[in-house]
Amino acid sequence: MDNRPIGIFDSGFGGLTALTALRRLMPDENIIFFADRARAPYGARSAGELRVIARQDLEFVASFGVKAIIAACGTVSANAPDVIADFDIPSVGVLEESVRTMSVFPGEAPLGIIATAASIRSGMFERRLRALCPGREIITAACPDFVTLIESGHFSPDDPVVRTAVEKYLRAMKEAGVRELLLGCTHYGLISEAIDRYLGGKTTLVSASECTALAVSRMLTDSGMTGGEGKTDYYTSGSAREFDEKAAMLLGHAIEGAVSVPVMEVPPLI
Ligand code: DGL
Repeated sequence: MDNRPIGIFDSGFGGLTALTALRRLMPDENIIFFADRARAPYGARSAGELRVIARQDLEFVASFGVKAIIAACGTVSANAPDVIADFDIPSVGVLEESVRTMSVFPGEAPLGIIATAASIRSGMFERRLRALCPGREIITAACPDFVTLIESGHFSPDDPVVRTAVEKYLRAMKEAGVRELLLGCTHYGLISEAIDRYLGGKTTLVSASECTALAVSRMLTDSGMTGGEGKTDYYTSGSAREFDEKAAMLLGHAIEGAVSVPVMEVPPLI
């Protein structure tokens, strides 16, 4: 029994896909959720900045006395895996479990990965997947507009702006006959219906958030570290009111108001 909360952080609403997945598996846990919206999109940042941000976000969430942390951000997971793994509270990114899930799909069709520009540039998703299934063709695509669109309220599958962006970034995947596609950015689950429709409902979409939530719930259950009252406390850098409104829309229910926290500075990098 361990009633300490679980921490989840991301640059923004993408973290909600991890929160939803974890809640489904662990309804009684207390969760500290941090959306660093004032500094989004992380995908446009350098690897050096992302390493600093990873540590700052981990430390912020850890300050609430959490028992484990999910870095619910593919971009941080791909660019600062050692910062996450070496943190003094058990912490996991969304890369390893999602890549492991992808690697077990049988067949000859190429495996697809979509993620932010910084994630794709790091080469981490592709390298880790290639190590687990050498010889299998892997196609990757960076989708730099997706996060900005979602953060600004464009996430409906009927929204023409979303549909146009999905077609732009996924045309090559569709033409290559990808049958399994990793959503390597946690935001992308919020437009999965638009992606699924464009791909004609024929492609399995693998959510990095869901894979990781499952692994964390197993880890906590196996080590007897479960317990709580099912409470979620939200924190955001940026407007709490905007966060509350959009998060409620994305979650499909009102939330206990978020607390707005000061924006953390990234010191000049040498
Ligand atoms: N949701 C994050 C990810 O999984 C961050 C996206 C961003 O801020 O660019 O990559």
